[in-house]
Amino acid sequence: MAGGIPDAAQPPKGTDMDRRCVVTGAAGFIGSRLARTLLDEGWRVTGVDAFTDSYDPEEKLARAELLRSNPRYRHVRADVAETDLDAILAGVEVVYHLAGRPGVRDSFAIPEKYRHDNVLATTRLVHAARRTRSVRRLVYASSSSVYGNAALPFLEDGPTSPLSPYGQTKLEAERVCLGANGSELETTALRYFTVYGPGQRPDMGLRRFAEAALKGGDIRLFGDGTQSRDFTYVDDIVRATRLAAEADVAGLAVNVGGGTRISLNEVFELLGVLTGGPVSIQREPFARGDARHTGADLTRARERLGFQARVAFADGYAAEVDWLRERSLVTLRTGS
Ligand SMILES: NC(=O)c1ccc[n+]([C@@H]2O[C@H](COP(=O)([O-])OP(=O)(O)OC[C@H]3O[C@@H](n4cnc5c(N)ncnc54)[C@H](O)[C@@H]3O)[C@@H](O)[C@H]2O)c1
Repeated sequence: MAGGIPDAAQPPKGTDMDRRCVVTGAAGFIGSRLARTLLDEGWRVTGVDAFTDSYDPEEKLARAELLRSNPRYRHVRADVAETDLDAILAGVEVVYHLAGRPGVRDSFAIPEKYRHDNVLATTRLVHAARRTRSVRRLVYASSSSVYGNAALPFLEDGPTSPLSPYGQTKLEAERVCLGANGSELETTALRYFTVYGPGQRPDMGLRRFAEAALKGGDIRLFGDGTQSRDFTYVDDIVRATRLAAEADVAGLAVNVGGGTRISLNEVFELLGVLTGGPVSIQREPFARGDARHTGADLTRARERLGFQARVAFADGYAAEVDWLRERSLVTLRTGS
């Protein structure tokens, strides 16, 4: 949408205050935003998150703490791959499965943790959802990483060829989900394209670049900056995820992208404008596992979900940079 970030979705008419859903990964960047939206809509939300060591757990604890201030939110601190899921799913209508171990680089060093958090956790959750009669639909957060360097634009029915253990485990988990679609449970897999905005994970490029620029330090860039991404604003992702719980997408993978491909060199130019000066870049070789370009074909998202991204990259990145500025002031004030 031109001219800034639209307001959060209004509660749909006739929302039943007792409808229950589960958000796994509710202390994460996207999961916490989704849980907040669902609470605003009137749902009772059980968030499941183990606060794993994928990045500073303090960020995750702080997000869960905010959610806990809503009496309709309940947090279960547990590993989806190990806990008693039947107790958590009883009476629940929709499961949003966002728990997972993200990030391409680390997946080469610790593939077993990726297998545990992405494949094992998903398999257990899908089996439990299938045997829980109240659960109508499971929405899984898959990734554009399943495509690797496929031809652009990436098509849901086109080839997949992950370049990293991360992409591989996301694809395996997606197959587990979609393979379980049937009369007992409807499943759908959303292939998210690089998500950004306030609250973004600390390991992600856009946040690292902005933090370095705000501190006046060097941005570490892997590659020559011509690589490009279909960046997607977090509120757009949340809206698509909500739509997927109701829409005619059972048994399908659906791309969710921002709709515009932006190169990292374009990102640095914008960052210079947003931070009031040119940014300094330290170039390093291309990293293993990173796709050169990502771009979603959004026909299915438009036709089946009724989804179209609303937030332009310049507006969304400005919101993220503002959030980081505010955050660094809070850190300076509190010394933490
Ligand atoms: N951020 C993106 O650009 C992006 C893109 C494509 C797909 N995704 C997928 O979306 C989901 C959310 O991503 P995010 O960026 O919010 O990541 P995040 O790391 O901020 O959130 C994931 C959360 O899941 C929790 N978790 C991980 N394994 C768990 C387990 N076994 N049991 C319980 N909790 C567990 C973590 O503690 C974390 O809080 C992930 O599945 C990710 O693969 C994200």
